[in-house]
Amino acid sequence: MFENGKIWMDDAGRSIQAHGGCILQHDGMWYWYGEHKGAENCPGTTRVDVIGISCYSSKDMNSWHYEGLALDVKDSPEGSLIQPENVCERPKVLYNEKTGKFVMWMHLDTPRYTYAGVAVAVADRPIGPFTVIREMQPNRTDSRDMTLFKDVDGTAWLVHSSDWNKTLRLSRLTEDFTDVDGFYASALVDQTREAPALMYRDGKYYMITSGCSGWQPNSALYAECDHLCGQWKLIDNPCEGDNYRRTFEGQSTYIFEKDGKTYLMLDHWKPKNVKNSGYSILPVTVENGILTVKWQATFPEQAS
Ligand code: DGJ
Repeated sequence: MFENGKIWMDDAGRSIQAHGGCILQHDGMWYWYGEHKGAENCPGTTRVDVIGISCYSSKDMNSWHYEGLALDVKDSPEGSLIQPENVCERPKVLYNEKTGKFVMWMHLDTPRYTYAGVAVAVADRPIGPFTVIREMQPNRTDSRDMTLFKDVDGTAWLVHSSDWNKTLRLSRLTEDFTDVDGFYASALVDQTREAPALMYRDGKYYMITSGCSGWQPNSALYAECDHLCGQWKLIDNPCEGDNYRRTFEGQSTYIFEKDGKTYLMLDHWKPKNVKNSGYSILPVTVENGILTVKWQATFPEQAS
């Protein structure tokens, strides 16, 4: 069992380094991918040089085993922007059934976030190694915080903050998930949201986002829409519990399903000591069309 909001340990007693991450289920196993920030901050900054993207595995999420770097900065191809001095954040991984490949997308940037692009990498196994095949600005637009979302019809989407974070964009991926196919839509225009996490429930799409205040917590808001590329509407702060106005001191990164329940992953950033940033996994419910993220002290929840 893990204490929400705190640093989590792996099965070897080392702090889990999987920030801005996602969880994927494959062949009865769970895989947690995220930014490895396990080094000291660069002096006087809130950044840690890029190390790579970690992968942890688990049978039941009661403990996590470190599988190593699924993507190691040392293996970056020549000319790649994936370099220690740059930024490689918020990795998300989907399995493509047609190609049998695991596809990872991540936010790729220069240290001052002026490139605003993505990198795409593929692997034959969930634990990697992932090989970088593309670095770009999707549809020639800037792209910062991002997630991947697989729709009920099997299409996959890159959902990313664009227009200097003012607008969220939903960019459809090619059938093999390794590129954008040119079709995209805008959502929450001029609302300045980031850290998107999406889910679908009973005919509606829901998107939880944070405001844009760097590493500092702010109020999460959720938006809903009948169609993925329809008129998204911001509804309210979904958080319930102490500190709900500051998203329990966290920031959204991904929504996944387990045993018929839905969960939101949060990062609890420690900007001055990023490697000690904590995590939460909290239950998400939709009742009478209202989405709620309830604070609970542990994950998995303690039986009452
Ligand atoms: C907020 C984003 O959500 C994080 O992923 C990171 O890019 C920080 N900003 C950097 O300030």
